[in-house]
Amino acid sequence: MTMKPFLPFLTVGLFFLGACGLEKPPASLKFPDEKKEVATPAPAPVTAPVAATAAAPADPKLAAGKTVYDGNCAGCHEAGMMGAPKPGDKAAWSARIAQGLDVMTKKSLEGFQGKAGMMPAKGGNASLTNEQVASAVAFMTDKSK
Ligand code: HEC
Repeated sequence: MTMKPFLPFLTVGLFFLGACGLEKPPASLKFPDEKKEVATPAPAPVTAPVAATAAAPADPKLAAGKTVYDGNCAGCHEAGMMGAPKPGDKAAWSARIAQGLDVMTKKSLEGFQGKAGMMPAKGGNASLTNEQVASAVAFMTDKSK
């Protein structure tokens, strides 16, 4: 009989050997379904940073909006921080979208205090152009329809 190196059982076997003074491990320790290879665990899934996981949209304006969003808005919105609606959360966006894109964009440029929390003007980055903010709003809205 050849014992294939199945370490946990071998270890147990050796323990019994030592403990009982037997020359061979007891028959019950034979591994009936002995396989040549010990199964290797599946590799752990690679997790990318939250904001960068989604693929860029095909529409160039929305793709630009995603870039602005990832860098300036995701910090609050992707985490749903302080009541910031998460893009894709249709329930959180339906009433907002109903106002129309122009109203939402204006509010995002100027900032506002809503029921859920405080949205800072341009997400707190005054160096963003109005177009950049508008594209980010379009991107967020498009994901949430
Ligand atoms: C400091 C956190 C924070 C950052 C950064 C931030 N937001 Fe917000 N945003 C909020 C919060 C909180 C609300 C919800 C306010 C409410 O309705 O009570 C909100 C709401 C919104 C809304 C919904 C507006 C409406 O009319 O309901 C839009 C659109 C929006 N943000 C766009 C943006 C954009 C674009 C950026 C990046 C340029 C951004 N936000 C960055 C916190 C943030």
